[in-house]
Amino acid sequence: MSVWQKHEIFEKYSMVLVIGILVVVAIGGLVEIVPLFYLKSTIEKVSGMRPYTPLELAGRNIYIREGCYLCHSQMIRPMRDELERYGHYSLAAESMYDHPFQWGSKRTGPDLARVGGKYSDEWHRDHLSDPRSVVPESVMPGYSFLLKAKLEERGIEDHLKTQVMVGVPYSEEDIAAAKSDLEAQANPDADGVDALLERYPKAVVRDFDGNPKMLSEMDALVAYLQVLGTLVDFSVYDNKADFR
Ligand code: HEC
Repeated sequence: MSVWQKHEIFEKYSMVLVIGILVVVAIGGLVEIVPLFYLKSTIEKVSGMRPYTPLELAGRNIYIREGCYLCHSQMIRPMRDELERYGHYSLAAESMYDHPFQWGSKRTGPDLARVGGKYSDEWHRDHLSDPRSVVPESVMPGYSFLLKAKLEERGIEDHLKTQVMVGVPYSEEDIAAAKSDLEAQANPDADGVDALLERYPKAVVRDFDGNPKMLSEMDALVAYLQVLGTLVDFSVYDNKADFR
């Protein structure tokens, strides 16, 4: 009997075919899943990652509320064209405090995973208020109302507590200081700045919206954009799998 005739049993009896399919799929599944049990962690450890400051977190909420993710991804893939355009590819650890993550799959605009520090606050302000004032061919909508919208501070403590529930390590002290940290980050003259920097290393403290009289939604959103991709120092990151 040739090999091809042995196959006949699968074609004649559908139950045998179904069992055969299950066996093959199970082998494939085991090959993919079993190695995960032997990894200590699927998120590699990198130094520098910290939870968002209250102001960055508030900005992130505005980013989600306005649907920025519909046009912007935050995940640089390990492919040469992306590395050359955006920088080091994204690590899982970089979004470990993102709930929900903002990887995205649509790039009407560029990836924003490393946009922090690329432009001045003023550029972001102009760009977000009226994108075509700085990039004439832009198709991005304007968000000038953010300059006039007072940032809602109520509930920021609860927001941090909620993040704790999903695994972000904010301490009791961080939660108690949430409101003062929120205000201090946009006011370099505030008393709370040193305490903020101790809690959140590398936090950028500036009057992001250029209006010292009001803590606006623009302050929060620009603070968030300016932290993206700035926390991990890739010059010290031991990158064995670098594709470059
Ligand atoms: C309809 C799609 C669309 C939406 C929605 C959108 N953008 Fe954009 N964005 C673009 C396009 C296209 C560009 C490239 C042209 C430009 O710079 O304006 C861009 C550029 C940018 C840049 C500059 C990136 C770089 O590296 O040069 C930033 C920052 C940015 N967007 C932030 C935001 C934020 C924050 C929001 C939400 C408040 C947002 N965008 C919503 C389409 C969009």
